Amino acid sequence: MTKSRRPRPRPSGRAGKRGSDDGRRGRASAPPRAGGRARHARDEAFFRYLVTGMRNGVLAFTRDGRLALINDEAYRIFDAAPRRDDLGRPVAKLLQQHPEVVRVLNSAFDVHLLPNRAELRLRPSGKVIGYTLGLVRDDAGEVIGAAMFFKDLTRVEQLEERERLRDRLAAVGEMAAAIAHEVKNPLAGIEVMAGLLRRKTADAPDVQTVLTDIITEAKMANAIVQEVLEFVRPIRLQVERTAVREAVQSAIQLADTKAQRGGVTIDVRVPASLPPVHGDRYQLTQLFTNLLTNAYEAMDGSGRITISAAGRSIDDGDDRRAAVLVEVADQGPGMSAELAERVFKPFFTTKSHGSGLGLAIVRKIVDAHDGSIDLQTAPGHGTTIRVTLPVTALDEGR
Ligand SMILES: Nc1ncnc2c1ncn2[C@@H]1O[C@H](COP(=O)(O)OP(=O)(O)O)[C@@H](O)[C@H]1O
Ligand SMILES: [Mg+2]
Repeated sequence: MTKSRRPRPRPSGRAGKRGSDDGRRGRASAPPRAGGRARHARDEAFFRYLVTGMRNGVLAFTRDGRLALINDEAYRIFDAAPRRDDLGRPVAKLLQQHPEVVRVLNSAFDVHLLPNRAELRLRPSGKVIGYTLGLVRDDAGEVIGAAMFFKDLTRVEQLEERERLRDRLAAVGEMAAAIAHEVKNPLAGIEVMAGLLRRKTADAPDVQTVLTDIITEAKMANAIVQEVLEFVRPIRLQVERTAVREAVQSAIQLADTKAQRGGVTIDVRVPASLPPVHGDRYQLTQLFTNLLTNAYEAMDGSGRITISAAGRSIDDGDDRRAAVLVEVADQGPGMSAELAERVFKPFFTTKSHGSGLGLAIVRKIVDAHDGSIDLQTAPGHGTTIRVTLPVTALDEGR
């Protein structure tokens, strides 16, 4: 009997060759008998299916760095197309788009303590994977390869980031809400008293002009305070089945009270067959109102806004989920890439009387609905804002 290199229990055989080892050590490498062979084949198939169907990525390789095993999830995570001759190929070749992974795999045989839980970001796709490395040993305890088990954590990361942002906003928000409340009352006082004075000075037109300016400014300040409150207030969704078309129609009416539409026309292309989303009707109306208000302000009284919607299926980590994509496209001046990058930041504005909160509120509402938002724009080519909303709310069945 050869001496095992480590004082560890020796495995009774390779995967698929189970059974009592007692008194049969000498036969460990003998070919299985006929019945045993059938069971062996069954077990082998079972393990193959087990690995193939795993919801984790699995990739194993031999000491000389050649691929010994890979499953579909691994191909998916690495965005690699399976090839017939992949098994036996150098892993470094297969993963040449992912040098950071190759580096980790290369270290598998050197590292004393193999990481049990580590993360890395894949460069080309930006995906974050969580992985474990393990060594593969033969009957004699000799290391003959290594395996990596991993999972796509991108979505988990996004949720954590959102959580962190929420915490930060909660702290800043409490302070802002307190200030906004304090400012609101004196502002209302200024507006009312200026109104009183205006009535009393009917015979002094120049005084009236000044008072009218004061009232206008106070109104504007009040609108900003209102938006700040709206922005910092935590959203509690009143979820109901909401037809996108209805939310859009209400928003068109509401936007008229917030900005000058002028001669801008609106083309609504929302098919009647579109499934209603489980969302907060008031919040969704607010979302589209803010987008429309911005479009009116960008277009300066002429041109066309197109609001279109269509069904979509979105990738939700392990599942696919039904969603609705709504696009609001305007013919305004568009934005530079540098500007577009900043527009969702709270208080970012290029307008002399803007609050810079319109799009921050939009993003907040989209996040609360577990949706996503992006924009396509270029100077001179208008702006299209794309909002994707899942059809079912997070805590409901999919
Ligand atoms: N449709 C649009 N076309 C061009 N620029 C836009 C559009 N929507 C938003 N922006 C830019 O994004 C900035 C931030 O918008 P928003 O958050 O709504 O704040 P505000 O409207 O108060 O400035 C605007 O000041 C403007 O520069
Ligand atoms: Mg705005």
